[in-house]
Amino acid sequence: MPGVELFGAEERKEVNDVLESGMLFRYNHDHLRNGHWKAREFEAELAKFNQVKYAHTCSSGSTAVATAMACCGIGVGDEVIVPPFTYIATIEGALLAGAVPVFAEIDESLCLSPEGIRKVLTPHTKAIVLVHMCGSMGKIEEILQICAEHNLILVEDTAQALGASYKGKMAGTFGKMGCFSFDFFKIITCGEGGAVITNDEQLYDYAHQYADHGHDHIGDNRGMEGHPIIGFNYRIGEMNAAIGVAQLRKIDYIMAQQRKHKKAMKECLAQYPEISFRYTPDESGDSATFLDFFLPDEATARSLVKAFQEAGVPQLTGVQYWYDNNYHYIKNWEHFRNMQTVAKLYVETITPPQDYKTLFLPQTDNLMSRLISLVVKVAWTEEQLSDLTQKMNTALEKVFSKTLV
Ligand SMILES: Cc1ncc(COP(=O)(O)O)c(C=O)c1O
Repeated sequence: MPGVELFGAEERKEVNDVLESGMLFRYNHDHLRNGHWKAREFEAELAKFNQVKYAHTCSSGSTAVATAMACCGIGVGDEVIVPPFTYIATIEGALLAGAVPVFAEIDESLCLSPEGIRKVLTPHTKAIVLVHMCGSMGKIEEILQICAEHNLILVEDTAQALGASYKGKMAGTFGKMGCFSFDFFKIITCGEGGAVITNDEQLYDYAHQYADHGHDHIGDNRGMEGHPIIGFNYRIGEMNAAIGVAQLRKIDYIMAQQRKHKKAMKECLAQYPEISFRYTPDESGDSATFLDFFLPDEATARSLVKAFQEAGVPQLTGVQYWYDNNYHYIKNWEHFRNMQTVAKLYVETITPPQDYKTLFLPQTDNLMSRLISLVVKVAWTEEQLSDLTQKMNTALEKVFSKTLV
């Protein structure tokens, strides 16, 4: 949870600017706000950081995904290819749009596999949502190629990968729109918040309109603004945006620290030949939020999780065994598989090309059962980092006692 490790005077100052005026709403009321426009400022800084023309903030990463789907014209009857390893919000975004999620295999990049995508294409496929998991990017070149061949829209769910890049180009800028989350667990946080980015002016206009009931935001008389499209309320508040402004200014420091710490953790794991690492198409563009690695089989992965626990690793950092995680892997999404809904969803009335109840993706399941991720923190001292790697080693030696090289 890097961003929250660094809350300080900077975040308090930005929040106090808002509290002093009392203007918590992001639009209008120009004369009351002492010149403070935190959402606008955050958007300008986000666009600059991502080297993109436009950014629009939303109330969460989930609403950012929903906004991107709507703005890209993804809707009823469209099939959207999604990964089975993501946060459930990606799937919810497709369902809210009225689209049909279609799951493709992931590969060692922990993101959608290009071969897996090709296997589930149908004449109804409209878009691919590439989720750049755990702070690094997927195989973007191959996936762009598939989009070009089949005239598909690429949406990047970059919720977990602010700061990641491929050959110098930022994650979220390859497709039509990129979507970020600034929830409590992300590289920078607003508490709750999200954003979409794009280079397309029309999509940007749709985004700020869609996320605010279709208002066109022309002029400063809110009641009299036009409504070019139907939308909803996915707005961010000024308090949340204010925290985002302070946090974004720390991102270079956050990434530098994470990269340093990840390197030390990786060196520790690399002593064990049984361990292989997640594939990252451009290592230099890794935001280094997580250290992801595979064990030879599920039993060894489970033994190592247990050994980490006994050695005290979870007290120092997060140990994620995603295979058992309720939110991130389809295996455990009973509610989705059974379409347990309160509101009636379009997808309940049709027959998707996959039976979600029985869907099994063998390649993904094998990878997930062998995968462990360690959270890389920012504020560790040298002593804490050394304590962590010692405890990791204790656990690793126990599991691989005969194979230390
Ligand atoms: C890949 C992905 N997409 C979307 C979201 C949703 O973001 P939020 O929690 O801000 O709604 C998350 C959050 O964890 C995520 O990891």
